[in-house]
Amino acid sequence: MDRSSLIIAPIIGEMEEFKTLFGSTLSSSNLLLQDVIAHIRQKSGKMMRPMLVLLAAKLLGDVRPATLHAAAALELLHTASLVHDDVVDESTERRGQLSVNAVFNNKVAVLTGDYLLATALLQAASTRHLDIIDLISVLGRELAEGELLQLSNVQNQQFSEEVYFEVIRKKTAMLFAACTQAGALSVGADAAETETLRKFGEYIGLCFQIKDDIFDYYDSKEIGKPTGNDMLEGKLTLPVLYALNSTHDAEATAIALRVKSGKATLDEIGRLIAFAKDNGGIEYARQAMRCHRDRALALLDNVSDSDVKTALAAYIDYVVEREK
Ligand code: IPE
Ligand code: IPE
Ligand code: MG
Ligand code: MG
Repeated sequence: MDRSSLIIAPIIGEMEEFKTLFGSTLSSSNLLLQDVIAHIRQKSGKMMRPMLVLLAAKLLGDVRPATLHAAAALELLHTASLVHDDVVDESTERRGQLSVNAVFNNKVAVLTGDYLLATALLQAASTRHLDIIDLISVLGRELAEGELLQLSNVQNQQFSEEVYFEVIRKKTAMLFAACTQAGALSVGADAAETETLRKFGEYIGLCFQIKDDIFDYYDSKEIGKPTGNDMLEGKLTLPVLYALNSTHDAEATAIALRVKSGKATLDEIGRLIAFAKDNGGIEYARQAMRCHRDRALALLDNVSDSDVKTALAAYIDYVVEREK
């Protein structure tokens, strides 16, 4: 079996149930909102988060209605954050089509993101599990904090890996951690099992964002969103942080500071990307992913072999090796 078949095999029927539920959550009598929702629905994402919720639940028990509602809540929260993210990042492409802000405008995108977020909370409430409602509400705050930390870090003159990891933990890894945690809670897992799965999701999420950040250093049609955007927004990610901190190159440092202040030209950004690649930045970021992947896999050491365990291992490999 190829990797994506291994991931989906144990939850194939449950994913169909999830998709039906997810589709039914989005409806409105407002004509403009109907248009926006139709646009969003035209291209679905990879559904990485719901798959993870279902796999976590399935590792410990049987998928229940609460599991499906938690998965819907988390995919909705993710979708809301992308709609808002493209406004914040002034990005015009998402999932291989124009972003909501590009087709409509920023105002419509902000309000639609709010609507999706509120719909996510309704789905969380439908789980009827207070601990899941709690965790998804806390998560919403963390995602926003991560985005704000990233924004204020642009002004920071330091090239801090520590701050980088704090940002990606909050803006991305906490969502993956919530997926595995909610999956576990939905089937009544005990505190120790829930914590192990939460940590497992967090490591996956860190890998996921490091990989996404590496994409930004290359041109690719397949990804379905613009590359080279991070530095345009003043963001320095792991590959270039490593190259700067390990070489202390004066010219690259000067360009990096210009990137942060929004003054760098496209040519300078191109040079800084090349500098990061030439000085082992990509290899360093890949190594960081492998390290987090190994930590995640180690958490499954005591779990007996099953198709779900195989699926979770294949899921991590996909995150680390994916091309989109
Ligand atoms: C994009 O996530 C946002 C990041 C955390 C980098 P995905 O790549 O999972 O987005 P979709 O849902 O598949 O479009
Ligand atoms: C992704 O942020 C994580 C969110 C909280 C939306 P990015 O800005 O890094 O992701 P992409 O590259 O636009 O998907
Ligand atoms: Mg962003
Ligand atoms: Mg973005």
